[in-house]
Amino acid sequence: MAKFIVDGNRRLQGEVDLQGAKNSALPIISATLLCSGESVIHCCPIISDINASIQILRYLGCSAKLSDHTLIVDSKDMNRCDIPENLMNEMRSSIVFLGAIIARKGKAKLYFPGGCELGPRPIDLHLSALRKMGVIIDERYGLITCRVKDKLHGAKIALPFPSVGATENIILSAVLAKGTTIISNAAREPEIVDLCDYLVKCGAEIYGAGESTIYIYGVDNLTPTVHTIIPDRIVASTLMAASAVTGGELILNGIISSHLDGVIPLFEEAGCNIKVRNSKLKIDSPNRLKPFKSVRTMPYPGFPTDLQAQFMALMTVSEGASLVTENIWENRFMHVPELMRMGANINVHGHASAIVRGVKRLSGAPVMATDLRASFALVLAGLAAEGETVVNRVYHLDRGYEKLDEKLRAVGADIERIKEAD
Ligand code: UD1
Repeated sequence: MAKFIVDGNRRLQGEVDLQGAKNSALPIISATLLCSGESVIHCCPIISDINASIQILRYLGCSAKLSDHTLIVDSKDMNRCDIPENLMNEMRSSIVFLGAIIARKGKAKLYFPGGCELGPRPIDLHLSALRKMGVIIDERYGLITCRVKDKLHGAKIALPFPSVGATENIILSAVLAKGTTIISNAAREPEIVDLCDYLVKCGAEIYGAGESTIYIYGVDNLTPTVHTIIPDRIVASTLMAASAVTGGELILNGIISSHLDGVIPLFEEAGCNIKVRNSKLKIDSPNRLKPFKSVRTMPYPGFPTDLQAQFMALMTVSEGASLVTENIWENRFMHVPELMRMGANINVHGHASAIVRGVKRLSGAPVMATDLRASFALVLAGLAAEGETVVNRVYHLDRGYEKLDEKLRAVGADIERIKEAD
């Protein structure tokens, strides 16, 4: 298992190029199953979640080759409709293959995603929507067996919560279904828009992506296309946090600034100076951050749950008390005890809110990464701390951040990856 050794208290300065968005690439990779033929996906990040989806594609009988951030998928020989348990467990979001497999093969057999490090992972919203579209589902012994009785058909689906995964699975099943599907209270994330842009290029008829109501008119078939994944807004914001926590000055290349509208004001509230010009963003950070009055995770366009841990790292060294509330996941404060090992002053109230009183400086310590985003929070704390921080279990981080250590080193961080035998 690899770990990072971070020697902190160094100001970061320089330019970083952004990677493509993991949360766009995964559903789009699943969508390539819907077009029998060769799809070309540019700006695919080279991370372990993408490798896991490539393994799933190959298991299903497709050819998939990733080279220099371009993924070429040929799904014409897809000959299976099941995903074995070990491949399902490789990646938390492998459930996004469900809708596409059903739409292509009329049946699917997948394992439940099970619990994960963020809490229980229900998929009731996905399944009830599929049932409305004519899928017969048997849930037994952790296995979901689905078959379409006649043909998938459109339906009116009102989501009680704008679930990202459920919205994606409904879209993936609806594009080739008979008739019209209307999703109300749909997720509005830019990654949903990217998935729809890809599908529309393939010939799908989708209207309203990015809004609360999405209309999908089923078509008979889709043709493969060439698509470029949008930049990763979570990675962009995390790198902004790396500048903020070190009093640094970073330039990010390749951003879409509107995707950062929910976070830029928070960095400004903390005293950072941000300039955006076309696809470049410059963040200049003060020596000490001001506290954040209240950060509450919400569905997009609200503040993302995927940035909660990183913002908590910023709060630990800000000049005053900040409040953070986690509204999306039940168990997303696993980084708290680790940050406290480094000297952070955090009081958790219930499972959803915490008050963080900033300290002048954290001290390096051995800490354990618990999930993808929490791992980066610990790296951020390590960058700000006095002395050496050892971040164990960085495989979590490799799920979503490409060559993170190299990128941070290039802008002045002292961070080293140590590979250890299991
Ligand atoms: C969620 C986040 C997404 C983030 C990802 C990984 C939101 C809205 N979604 O997406 O931004 O990238 O985690 O951290 O912020 N739920 C149900 N039943 C279902 C599906 C979901 O009760 O069938 C509940 C979940 O328990 C959770 C919430 O809805 O509390 C978020 O679910 P959803 O958006 O579906 O999760 P992801 O797609 O993983």
